[in-house]
Amino acid sequence: MKGIILSGGYGERLRPLTFSQQKQLIPVANKPVLFYAIEDVIKAGIKDIGVVVGPNREQVEETIGRRKWNASIEFIQQGEPKGLAHAVMVSQDFVGDNPFVMYLGDNILKEGISQHVAEFQQSGCDASILLCHVTNPTMFGVAELGENGEIVRLVEKPKVPPSDLALVGIYMFRPSIFKAVHSIKPSWRNELEITDSIQWLVENGYKVKSAIVSGWWKDTGKPEDILEANRLVLDEIESRNEGKVDEKASIRGRVSIGKGSEVEGKCMVKGPAIIGERCLIKDSYIGPYTSIGDGCRIIGTEIEDSVVMEGASLQNVGRIVDSLIGRGVNAKATSVLPNGHRLILGDYSQVEL
Ligand code: TTP
Repeated sequence: MKGIILSGGYGERLRPLTFSQQKQLIPVANKPVLFYAIEDVIKAGIKDIGVVVGPNREQVEETIGRRKWNASIEFIQQGEPKGLAHAVMVSQDFVGDNPFVMYLGDNILKEGISQHVAEFQQSGCDASILLCHVTNPTMFGVAELGENGEIVRLVEKPKVPPSDLALVGIYMFRPSIFKAVHSIKPSWRNELEITDSIQWLVENGYKVKSAIVSGWWKDTGKPEDILEANRLVLDEIESRNEGKVDEKASIRGRVSIGKGSEVEGKCMVKGPAIIGERCLIKDSYIGPYTSIGDGCRIIGTEIEDSVVMEGASLQNVGRIVDSLIGRGVNAKATSVLPNGHRLILGDYSQVEL
């Protein structure tokens, strides 16, 4: 079995972060979201992985190349993102005659995929989709199941959802899917949809099974989803201290502190939280569900329920909550006149003061 992991797309809903960073590289608990997918695929025993890349492909290749993986990883060029079924189409040479799992590189699934992959291999089905009960099905691809749990219909972002079962971004296919992706037409949003391709399999007599996931699943398409995924992953983090913590500082709950980081002065760090390597945390409060990336400086600041990315610096900026702070951001209080907020914000930045 082979694996294809999608790391293309424009990620417009995550602007401005995605102007400079491919969305699957955004960190959740200090690890690019894409790495969770690669790890899951490897854990399922798959050794041949193709990562589909489009915009910012050099970044994706470089970030994956920084780590040693227990699998062979190739890159498949998609170029312009023309839909998930188009990503399948461009992967045909890589996949050949093998069954394969397709994993959207911005999805995280608590339970991993090992069991689902094993069941699919034994089933002999042409496709298997994973479903998850959600409270807002209009935002997702949704499945209608028959009396015996068979797939009757799949609809993309339905106004009137036939069920609350959303399609998780993980699919298992046999090469019959290539027939499907070549048979469908682009949708109203001009994309080749994977839901239409699976619907095509159903309508043409191929066997499609489904399984409902039991743990949490998160698609990190929007800022609030990244914060939620960060909370869910940090909920399972273990305490670790490879840095230096001042005796005046107080560490409560599960906190992970990386090499070369210092927690100095009157600090309180309340877990679950993660502080990367080479950070300086001084006279600050780091509250629950916060991830601080490598090389950050947090001084005289309170922050919680937030993701701060590599190399950012926050100095005396009061209290920050529910925030995503990009790489190398520099925010500080100043006493220079005239008084007021001085902002240099990228296009489409969002600020609530
Ligand atoms: P989307 O969430 O639809 O990704 P997007 O980048 O189009 O996001 P936005 O709507 O904010 O612009 O796609 C799901 C995943 O699949 C995501 O990881 C990006 C990836 N993808 C591709 O690799 N190729 C594609 O052609 C598309 C549409 C998505």
